[in-house]
Amino acid sequence: MKTLLLDKQHHDRANFDCGVDALNNYLKMMASQQSGKDNSRTFVLEDAEKTGVIIGYYTLTMTQADLGRLPARLQKKHQSNHSAGLIARLAVDRRYAGKGYGEFLLVDALVKLLQASEVVAFPFVLVDAKAGVARFYEKMGFTPFHDVPDSLFMTMADIRRTLNP
Ligand SMILES: CC(C)(COP(=O)(O)OP(=O)(O)OC[C@H]1O[C@@H](n2cnc3c(N)ncnc32)[C@H](O)[C@@H]1OP(=O)(O)O)[C@@H](O)C(=O)NCCC(=O)NCCS
Repeated sequence: MKTLLLDKQHHDRANFDCGVDALNNYLKMMASQQSGKDNSRTFVLEDAEKTGVIIGYYTLTMTQADLGRLPARLQKKHQSNHSAGLIARLAVDRRYAGKGYGEFLLVDALVKLLQASEVVAFPFVLVDAKAGVARFYEKMGFTPFHDVPDSLFMTMADIRRTLNP
C-alpha cells in the first residue's frame, strides 16, 4: 500500500464519506487548492482494485507548539525551536473503517514527517483530534495536553524510536 499526493483529476473526492462533513468537505473543496498554494499537502490511499476510489486521506502542514503547555523538561530542551509538524486532518471512508487503514495512514504520516524533520529539524508533531478520537492517537504514542485533551503531541525523538525500534 502506498499513499500518493491528492490528484483532483484522478481521485474521486465526491464520493468520499468518513461520516464527518467538515472532513469530507475539506477533501472535496479545499485540499487541492491549499496544496497549490503550498499551505498544506494532502496524501490519499487509493483502493488498488477500484481506480480513483479513496480509502482515506491525511493532510500535513507546519505549526508552532505552545511551549507553555508542554512538560517542563521539554520546554527547556526545545526553547530555541517550537516548530511542529501538524497532522491537520486524517480520515478513513466509512466503507473501509475498522480494517487498520487509519493506523496505516497515521504511521505513513509520521514517516513523512520524520523524513521532513531530518531535512529541516522540528521537534514535535501535533494533532487536533475530533471529539472521541484522541484514544486512536494515544495508542500510537501521542500524549494529550492536560488542559485540552483532544489536542495531542508527540516528540520527534519518540516518533523516531517508535518507527525504528
Ligand atoms: C478515526 C479513524 C481515522 C480510524 O480509522 P480506522 O481505519 O477505522 O481505524 P483502524 O482500523 O486503523 O484502527 C486502529 C486502532 O484504533 C482504534 N480506533 C479506531 N477508531 C477509534 C476511535 N474513534 N477512537 C478510539 N480508538 C479508535 C481501533 O479500535 C484499532 O485498535 P486495535 O488495533 O486495538 O484494534 C476513522 O474512524 C475516521 O476517519 N473517523 C472519522 C473521521 C475522524 O474523526 N477523523 C479523526 C480526525 S482527528
